[in-house]
Amino acid sequence: MLSLYAKDSMVDFLVQKLDYKIRCALTPFPVAKEYKAHLDTLNRDGCVVFEEYFSPEQVDEFLEDIEAAKKRQDLTRVANGHIDTGISRVYDVADVAPMTRKIFEDPMILSLIKGYCSSKCELLKTFYEEKREVGTSSQSNHHHFDDWRHRIKVWVYLTDVTENQAPTTITLGSHKNHLWRYWPEYNYFLHFRTDENNRYTEMTDYSGMFWPHEAATIRKLWKYKEKTITGKKGTMFIFDSRALHRSTVLKEGERKIITGYYTYKGLGL
Ligand SMILES: [Fe+2]
Repeated sequence: MLSLYAKDSMVDFLVQKLDYKIRCALTPFPVAKEYKAHLDTLNRDGCVVFEEYFSPEQVDEFLEDIEAAKKRQDLTRVANGHIDTGISRVYDVADVAPMTRKIFEDPMILSLIKGYCSSKCELLKTFYEEKREVGTSSQSNHHHFDDWRHRIKVWVYLTDVTENQAPTTITLGSHKNHLWRYWPEYNYFLHFRTDENNRYTEMTDYSGMFWPHEAATIRKLWKYKEKTITGKKGTMFIFDSRALHRSTVLKEGERKIITGYYTYKGLGL
């Protein structure tokens, strides 16, 4: 069939982006009245924070379950490593430490995420992560977006997170469909290639990264504010990782988190 646009052209990308937006728009999810204000914040800022959403006792239960999972030697999904970034992870944490499902089955969290994206938005992956190596930097310390499609993340802090304990920062409002995004998103579309099951391939290059001065210019031009998310143990936030965000270097202590990624029908990585 004659194609009206070339594969991998900007038009090809725009058609796919439009198609994705229509799919989401056609599958709305009704959000209960009591959560509407949070949904408004998420729509406006690309992020909503809940101070101490989980109690210290609940967080301790999560941590105990994760420690028990780590001790099970046959557990292949426990990956303590990734030394160059100073990060250790336990993958599939919702499976290997079932207490943590309290997060991913929480009705408000699910309702907000589906209401924000689509009724077809699903949990894609979960992991536990700890940072203990003071002063170790990583690629994600640079401003970046994760995808041009939704990749909505739930983060729960399992330790107090101060300015010095590797808080995440989010550039509020930068998730919106503003003009500056199109060229970097197109580049992402060209370079972050995955296979039909959304697995990495040789064509998958990390994309969507910005130099500090580029991020500063975008903030200035579009009047965005960068928010550093600090909080007590049990603090939870939901954010749209299409927004510019970055991790920060651990300057003291340690930082432990649980996270889950939600995407449209399991789309993306
Ligand atoms: Fe990211």
